[in-house]
Amino acid sequence: MSGHGTPIPMTSRKVTALKGVANVPGDKSISHRSLILGAMSVGETRITGLLEGEDVLDTAKAMRAFGAEVTDHGGGEWSVYGVGVGGFAEPEQVIDCGNSGTGVRLIMGAMATTAITATFTGDASLNGRPMGRVTNPLAEFGAQAYGREGGRLPMTIVGAREPMPVRYVVPVPSAQVKSAVLLAGLNAPGKTVVIEKEATRDHTERMLQGFGAELTVEETDEGRVITLTGQPELQPQTIVVPRDPSSAAFPVCAAILTEGSDVLVPNIGLNPTRAGLFTTLKEMGADLTYENLREEGGEPVADLRAKFSPDLKGIEVPPARAASMIDEYPVLSVVASFAEGATVMRGVKELRVKESDRIDAMAKGLRAAGVEVEEGEDWWIVHGRGHGNVTGGVTVESRLDHRIAMSFMVMGMATEKPMTVDDGGPIATSFPIFEPLMAGLGAAITRSHQ
Ligand code: S3P
Repeated sequence: MSGHGTPIPMTSRKVTALKGVANVPGDKSISHRSLILGAMSVGETRITGLLEGEDVLDTAKAMRAFGAEVTDHGGGEWSVYGVGVGGFAEPEQVIDCGNSGTGVRLIMGAMATTAITATFTGDASLNGRPMGRVTNPLAEFGAQAYGREGGRLPMTIVGAREPMPVRYVVPVPSAQVKSAVLLAGLNAPGKTVVIEKEATRDHTERMLQGFGAELTVEETDEGRVITLTGQPELQPQTIVVPRDPSSAAFPVCAAILTEGSDVLVPNIGLNPTRAGLFTTLKEMGADLTYENLREEGGEPVADLRAKFSPDLKGIEVPPARAASMIDEYPVLSVVASFAEGATVMRGVKELRVKESDRIDAMAKGLRAAGVEVEEGEDWWIVHGRGHGNVTGGVTVESRLDHRIAMSFMVMGMATEKPMTVDDGGPIATSFPIFEPLMAGLGAAITRSHQ
């Protein structure tokens, strides 16, 4: 499990002319959901292009513990023989979700309306994150949660014996909370209604419809109203997982920041609930183009071409865009460091409860590298120094957070002196091929101190 092994310090040195094709791994959000919905359908779901990062492998293990037959056929081909809605067995052991908030929150939802009990734990990062946002709505279905102070893991969920459908207004913009409620609603009779004021990633809604559930979405004055009819028989599916835009962000930003670079990142899902970073980069003046724009499996997909962009400008990122790029703010703050002027990011309180407090983690590292950063509870401003003017030459903490580690590795490709992270191990949770993929483009990342 990530974060429990020996730390792996990684150093990234200045490079030029990153070139080539970056085939990034499958989408993390869609990979988790494919395994969970596969386990809740009746019969065999086939999955191609599954992300084989630690987070998703922990979810695969968990689905086995709840009684599904999950088989790795090699090369990203997986199958899940599901047990049906309400068919989960009681696990014999504690479910360890490693570093994954998505894994634990979605699985808690999926089991909470079945009359079984399960205990969940994770690594030091996950065990510090708030679970009340999920256990509060699950209590309305009739499930009980017994965790540590502050609603933290390890935590035991006693599933509802006679679940009631709920109507729940999600209080924070969170696809994990929305998805936990919808998955719990699957085994409640009648209609479960989830209302979100701000649209968050909609993979759960799309996939539930794909698996044959009756689910409608209405845009109303109250927000997005999602209505799910409980106790369907989910039909197994054949799923082709698109490549992850959140992983694409790293080679894209690396190319934008390094002189002479030209990188193609093929087959990236551009679902509007996920693509906010790319819009933002273009507004900053990045040379980023969508080639071969097409539809695949009902989702917009394109090949992204990113080239060195010497004249980046700081911008104010619209807060309404935050949910569509919530995982990309760390690497955006790196790009912002090399822009002229300030990049203002507001409405991003959620960044404080990710795998780490991402505003704090990035602000500390950026300041150490010579960049001025201002911050408040739900905002931060990065004062860019312009291309070629960022010193670097420091070791920063990755805090068990894959995206913090990768962001500083991208930064080191453009700073005068190398950047080191104390532990690059967590990168394996979402992007296990990060080092060879970046090396293939011409990056100089080594597993050692500078
Ligand atoms: C995810 C939702 C987001 C995101 C996470 C993946 C998902 O979290 O940060 O990486 O797959 O539903 P929140 O729902 O907590 O915003």
